[in-house]
Amino acid sequence: MAENLIISGTNKVEKYETLLPQINALLIGETNLIANLANVSSALKTTFNWLWVGFYLTDSETELVLGPFQGPLACTRIKKGKGVCGTTWQEEKTFVVENVDEFPGHIACSSASKSEIVVPIFKQNQVVAVLDVDSDAIAEFNEIDKKYLEALCKNLGELF
Ligand code: SME
Repeated sequence: MAENLIISGTNKVEKYETLLPQINALLIGETNLIANLANVSSALKTTFNWLWVGFYLTDSETELVLGPFQGPLACTRIKKGKGVCGTTWQEEKTFVVENVDEFPGHIACSSASKSEIVVPIFKQNQVVAVLDVDSDAIAEFNEIDKKYLEALCKNLGELF
């Protein structure tokens, strides 16, 4: 297992292009879900220095529970349809939020969070978790993040 990430490039595309193969290599050889999600959180946080990177896992028909993450303390449970995470689960699609103050029902775990992307993770066409990433900058996330994080989450679905 690689213990250090080697990230080259200065723009997001270059960083994702060097990071994702290393994440995929990390996942091969370890089957434990928590260990893998923890390392993915760390890899993304370390590479991009975002405010918060982590996972919420479905815990019942109606609730997400906090999973492995990196960053400030976070709320532990989110109802389906609530906040960006619960809406992502309900709508089964990625949400890119340029300004969290403009997202109706946004759940502010940290007042430092200004923008957010949440990507659903599917197993057999069912949402089993979401990847949540927060930034302290307005409009940090765009179509590039959506493309690469969706590709990552497609692979993560295999772990569940
Ligand atoms: N902002 C999220 C809640 C989770 S924290 O950002 C870590 C939401 O609105 O669902």
